[in-house]
Amino acid sequence: MTLILGLEGTAWNLSAALVSEAKTICEAESTYKPLHGGIHPREAAQHHASEIKNVVSRVFRGAEAEERGFSLDSIDAIAFSQGPGMGPCLRTVATAARALAISLKIPLVGVNHCIAHIEIGRWRCETKDPVVLYVSGANSQVLAYRAGKYRILGETLDIGVGNALDKFARYLGLSHPGGPKIEELAYKGTEYVYMPYVIKGMDLSFSGLTTAAKDAINVHRHKTEDVCYSFQETAFAMLTEVTERAMAHLGKDEMLLAGGVGANRRLQQMLQTMCHDREAKFYVPETKYLKDNGTMIAYLGLLHYKTGDTTPIDKSAVKPNYRPDEVEVTWREQEQK
Ligand code: ATP
Ligand code: FE2
Repeated sequence: MTLILGLEGTAWNLSAALVSEAKTICEAESTYKPLHGGIHPREAAQHHASEIKNVVSRVFRGAEAEERGFSLDSIDAIAFSQGPGMGPCLRTVATAARALAISLKIPLVGVNHCIAHIEIGRWRCETKDPVVLYVSGANSQVLAYRAGKYRILGETLDIGVGNALDKFARYLGLSHPGGPKIEELAYKGTEYVYMPYVIKGMDLSFSGLTTAAKDAINVHRHKTEDVCYSFQETAFAMLTEVTERAMAHLGKDEMLLAGGVGANRRLQQMLQTMCHDREAKFYVPETKYLKDNGTMIAYLGLLHYKTGDTTPIDKSAVKPNYRPDEVEVTWREQEQK
């Protein structure tokens, strides 16, 4: 059995998990909550610095870790999110990961946060070769595996759909994260208000939606619920269209949803309908594995570790703009043998 401790802290959520090949043994987290407004990277990083020791100890105080006598000395490697994410947050967690790896004399594994979202979904849903729609705060991408890499087939040209929702929510005076609050308001909407539907080739743009939604309330005096409803219908239809085109081009008949925005039931419903119509299978993991979590980092760390792919300290600098197609996906070649 291989035991990996994974540390996640790319943005506002700090999470650690102990994972083996079979399952998550224990997980603990601590979420930075801004008093008002959005996330301030430096404040989130300070939160992570003061909480990390506590979060890691809580993992080992978890019922199963205690029962099986696991401690820091039991682990084979430390995995951490090397990027993408907010620089100060990434640096804080990477420093903790390096310190642990050096003091325990075990390997370090720097992982790509986006690929962790994908691999945890493949693991939990047992899907083999899906087209992936990865939608979170900062990211909105459609990806699929081909010839050793996750290729980005389409992505946002400006902000992620989650950030677009969060910005509009903040304008409405709702606290972070705004996505789930907009979802609840949207269910009460009845009338569609025009919103810009922007797709360029396979790429998407969401920033105009936030502006249009603000104007719909401020200038045109539409009802908040109708604007939330229209925002969601437009943004999610755009995402569904690009995902469907990727599936059609590649001839794939599986689709996996990943990232925090994936918790949205209306988005799930639209994708489910699209997949059903083309006789494809739609997969979505439990909500706790859609949002940022330590398990996905530990699990991807385990995949890297098992193919002998670890990160020397001098190569462990964080990469705030780390793209998923920079990563050699060695573990999938082995799967296919
Ligand atoms: P990443 O670094 O991958 O961009 P993240 O820090 O944005 O991750 P996630 O937990 O993957 O973290 O996603 C958080 C986003 O998901 C927030 O923008 C939040 O508003 C959004 N979100 C969460 N639940 C819902 C929901 N039910 N409907 C819409 N958006 C949601
Ligand atoms: Fe994420």
